Amino acid sequence: MSEIKRKGRTIHLECVDSTNTYLKNLSIAGEADFYDCVIADTQTGGRGRLGRSFASNKGKGIYLSYLMNPKDASAEELSRITAWGAVAVRDALKETCGLDVGIKWVNDLVYEGRKVCGILTEMTFGLENGKVHSVIMGIGINVNHDEADFPEELRAVATSVKIIGGREWDISELADNLILRLDAINDDFPKSKEYYLAEYRRSCAVIGKKIRIIKGDAERCGTALDIDENFGLVVAFDDGKTETVTDGDVSVRGFYGYI
Ligand code: BTN
Repeated sequence: MSEIKRKGRTIHLECVDSTNTYLKNLSIAGEADFYDCVIADTQTGGRGRLGRSFASNKGKGIYLSYLMNPKDASAEELSRITAWGAVAVRDALKETCGLDVGIKWVNDLVYEGRKVCGILTEMTFGLENGKVHSVIMGIGINVNHDEADFPEELRAVATSVKIIGGREWDISELADNLILRLDAINDDFPKSKEYYLAEYRRSCAVIGKKIRIIKGDAERCGTALDIDENFGLVVAFDDGKTETVTDGDVSVRGFYGYI
């Protein structure tokens, strides 16, 4: 796997339940440092947002978690780092595979309406001071998956770099490129916001589209207008109200499907 020289460790595991859980436990035990990254060939319990699972076929994708330095920022400020991560994945896919993917607010990378990558950022808090103790950004990219590798129910909404580009890719090369970009985020957060915000806006695949905002059993329809200064999604709802959606617990869907 990775031979690149970095500030942190790159811990390679053949199989783990979840790289996020593994790195979180290391961090809680005081055995992980900022810039450390865990990457696995497969996960038996890969986790996604909103309690979903993340399929992690062996040797086919990138399943990695990265320990970001919270730098005394608030949990609200730090939650925006997921959007920075989405820009890093987009840039890595562009540079390594020549692929132009879009970003579906807030944390999915998409190509022609299908998901190629998901990001799950999790935080732990210090009991005594309530401050953010660790920020773990978990990234899953479908790289060399064929259609048949996805479970039946995901085939209409998932894709891979191989399916898009028509050839296999070197997983370590793409992972190395991405990890260096995550190192840059760790160095530059929050001062380089201008670049990440501009690139996020430019790549946002939902702007101008009719969307559904789903929270639990409730659903509201509207049109996505813009990304605000804090990476919130500005929506003109069909009831006439314009609001900015920032809630990490919502799902955004296209009017007729995934996006
Ligand atoms: C989502 O699509 O909702 C987010 C998916 C995040 C998956 C990655 S794979 C590496 C890391 N470990 C996990 O258990 N989840 C993240």
